[in-house]
Amino acid sequence: MKILVTGGCGFIGSNFIRYFLKSYPDYSLINMDKLTYAGNLENLSDLSHSPRYHFIRGDIADAPRVEELINKGVDAIVNFAAESHVDRSIEDPSAFMKTNVFGTFVLLEAIRKVFPKQRIRFLHISTDEVYGSLGETGAFTEETPLAPNSPYSASKTAADMLVRAYHHTYGIPAIITRCSNNYGPYQFPEKLIPLMVSNALEDKELPIYGDGMYVRDWIYVEDHCRALDIVLHHGREGEVYNIGGRSERPNLTVAKTILDQVGKPHSLIRFVADRPGHDRRYAINFSKIEKELGWNPSISFEEGIRLTVEWYQTHREWWKKIKTGEYLDYYKRMYQDR
Ligand code: NAD
Ligand code: TYD
Repeated sequence: MKILVTGGCGFIGSNFIRYFLKSYPDYSLINMDKLTYAGNLENLSDLSHSPRYHFIRGDIADAPRVEELINKGVDAIVNFAAESHVDRSIEDPSAFMKTNVFGTFVLLEAIRKVFPKQRIRFLHISTDEVYGSLGETGAFTEETPLAPNSPYSASKTAADMLVRAYHHTYGIPAIITRCSNNYGPYQFPEKLIPLMVSNALEDKELPIYGDGMYVRDWIYVEDHCRALDIVLHHGREGEVYNIGGRSERPNLTVAKTILDQVGKPHSLIRFVADRPGHDRRYAINFSKIEKELGWNPSISFEEGIRLTVEWYQTHREWWKKIKTGEYLDYYKRMYQDR
């Protein structure tokens, strides 16, 4: 099988590529990535000599480039490429529309143009954030109405609607997955868990938005990759599959668990101004993928945090290099000025 992975130099994409090359010795993977601030060639430097892995710097919104690649013959596209951070989408939404919406449209158009002569399976990686926010009870199912609240989640919802329409209208073999919050190795330290872990390791304050009682469902990235493997091979076309970690935690609990794991005092926690439009709670019902495809998460939150802290402890160079220059300007805007 030949798979085109987009956004493979980011957090989940790089974990997926490593997982797939290891799991399927006869597969080859092309990774098309624009290398934005979040794309890092070092995430896959150990694979640079693999004859089954090929990197191409490119933008999914660049139609001729995408068509050229598809014409070389691929069996599937797994679309991770996106602007992925809610806070950045609040600061400046334009790149989110260009990549997340228009970029997905370009991929779908390229698939449509060769269909049905070439039948390219399209696995679109979406998010539980398309469902909006929950109160104290309940969980998102695949039937929950879409109600995005941030420019990020609105752009992901628009992309999901395009994927749905291309399947419905043209019969494109597409599947959407909607996963909860991931964490693990190679996550850019702007997201909650890697920011908390790296700050704790540096004895820096851990900025908690608002009252810290915002709840997310956390999934270890390897469990997500395993779910994508099953959906890519066995999922039904035209369907949506929710993926969750069965680990709902308030942000304050996440920060305290990390500090305990690193061995640093809870006094490092600092409450800062809230995020505008902050979704209160996400929780995901993933019984569809569980019943239909036999997947469920295998790594507990405590074990995942232990593994993640260990990884950031042993890969200090990786994140220290990121936390310089442009990142410091971002950090100052986000936290010190709040
Ligand atoms: P990330 O920000 O770490 O990586 C995104 C990658 O996409 C980067 O390598 C970047 O260079 C690349 N990219 C951005 N724009 C591009 C473009 N126009 N063309 C080609 N490449 C481009 O993101 P992530 O956390 O790995 O998320 C991957 C996908 O999973 C996203 O679609 C995101 O919406 C989705 N998702 C993420 C989470 C999470 O918790 N991180 C949860 C659910 C779904
Ligand atoms: P984040 O990792 O940005 O993911 P998302 O917004 O997509 O869920 O944030 C996770 C939660 O942590 C969210 O409720 C916002 C909160 N948060 C903080 O309290 N402090 C921080 O420094 C960051 C980055 C996030």
